[in-house]
Amino acid sequence: MTALTPLREIPKQNIFKQGDVFVLFGELFGRGYVNGLIDEARDAGMTIVGITVGRRDDDNRLRPLTEEELAAAEDNLGGRIINVPMMAGFDLDAPEGEPTPTDMLGGMTIKNWQDEKLDWSQVERCREVGVKRFKDSMAQVVAELEDMIPDGANAYFAHTMAGGIPKVKVFLAIANRIYKGRGARFMSSRALLDSDLGRFIMMNFDEVSANTFQYLIEGTTQIRQRLQKSGGEVCYSAYGYHGTEILINGEYRWQSYNNYTQGYAKKRLEGIAEEAWAKGIKATVFNCPEIRTNSSDIFVGVELSLFPLLTSLKIEGGGDWAESQWEACRKLLSDEISLEGLLQNIEDYNADEVITEFRNYEAWPMDNTEALAEVMVGTSGDITAKHKDKRALITDHLSGLVLEGTGPLMFHEMSNPSAPVLWLNHDIIAKQLNMMHN
Ligand SMILES: NC(=O)c1ccc[n+]([C@@H]2O[C@H](COP(=O)([O-])OP(=O)(O)OC[C@H]3O[C@@H](n4cnc5c(N)ncnc54)[C@H](O)[C@@H]3O)[C@@H](O)[C@H]2O)c1
Repeated sequence: MTALTPLREIPKQNIFKQGDVFVLFGELFGRGYVNGLIDEARDAGMTIVGITVGRRDDDNRLRPLTEEELAAAEDNLGGRIINVPMMAGFDLDAPEGEPTPTDMLGGMTIKNWQDEKLDWSQVERCREVGVKRFKDSMAQVVAELEDMIPDGANAYFAHTMAGGIPKVKVFLAIANRIYKGRGARFMSSRALLDSDLGRFIMMNFDEVSANTFQYLIEGTTQIRQRLQKSGGEVCYSAYGYHGTEILINGEYRWQSYNNYTQGYAKKRLEGIAEEAWAKGIKATVFNCPEIRTNSSDIFVGVELSLFPLLTSLKIEGGGDWAESQWEACRKLLSDEISLEGLLQNIEDYNADEVITEFRNYEAWPMDNTEALAEVMVGTSGDITAKHKDKRALITDHLSGLVLEGTGPLMFHEMSNPSAPVLWLNHDIIAKQLNMMHN
């Protein structure tokens, strides 16, 4: 098991400059974490290159972006996009004419999914096709990158891929019960993990969220060796999640959202960085705090750990800017609700014995329980209801701050990384934000 290794000092070194290349390995979406990192690369004057996951036609065939889509995506990124579809996972792959895993899951219903069995030899055949497709696309991307990264330049590869939920109707209903359900509508994540559907999803998570990091590191070996021989440095970062230290009753304590079903893939991702590191490759997984993005909105309650960041902002070198963040958040609450009162609600939540039982780093990722859902989903709803407008939440504001803070921490750390796995907890993020704004 990976030891808990938080980043405690703000890294300030920077080797990246104009002429160096920043490669985004994942597609840029609106609120995503990687925005913070791209801002840094842009400020350093680096050339920004991206990829696309591609799009699916009506018959599910994967295709590159159309000219119009490409122009919009390049505009959004502020850099060139290599237009080869890099969708990972194998939920829609199969040998020609054979059923894909999505076809195989198509017959499952909310009544029968726990008993339905999959043909694992067929799943394996599909996995092989999907991995080959991804690696072949990777080779095309690398061939284009060879021409875009000159000798002697430094290259920063930023992995951001995470996902792998198959598009089958039944999973939507199951996810609603596991991640949002209470009382009679609740279902434990263990039921999913013990089913064939769950086992397949875990395999697909591994492919998308972990193995792609390995394919990236392996696929760019030649580029890495060429650049290193000509005086350049090459590094790889990825976003992990393995809980976060936040302020609880005045102390930084490790806690986590449960059940983080992707946790198994995230542990695998850490292992990939550790293996690469042992071979002398600068690869680091940054375990980042819970924030609200397109990918995390399904996990109701994941946002509750964000609130204590406000207190961290005050105690980690806070000044006028930290005060202004409190004021900005205060304004989002209904008139009769005080921010201090809301933070006390979060302290009470974190002191609840149902919640404290889940602060178990060794046992992570833990299955959820009905009692947990009752407290977590319930508190999430109560806190949201204290806002003036459900579409303008304190956690939206704080998510933006966290991603802003992680950008420079990761960017500077990767100039001379200290470990293959690092946690960016609320302490260092608050320090970084105060340093930037005071
Ligand atoms: N949101 C959080 O609370 C949180 C916390 C810690 C770490 N992270 C990690 O940060 C990273 C970015 O996530 P985010 O939350 O900013 O959301 P996001 O939706 O902005 O990013 C998800 C990324 O995954 C890529 N992706 C999704 N499915 C894919 C597939 N099948 N094949 C290839 N790529 C695929 C997307 O292109 C996108 O780049 C992820 O690795 C995520 O696990 C998120």
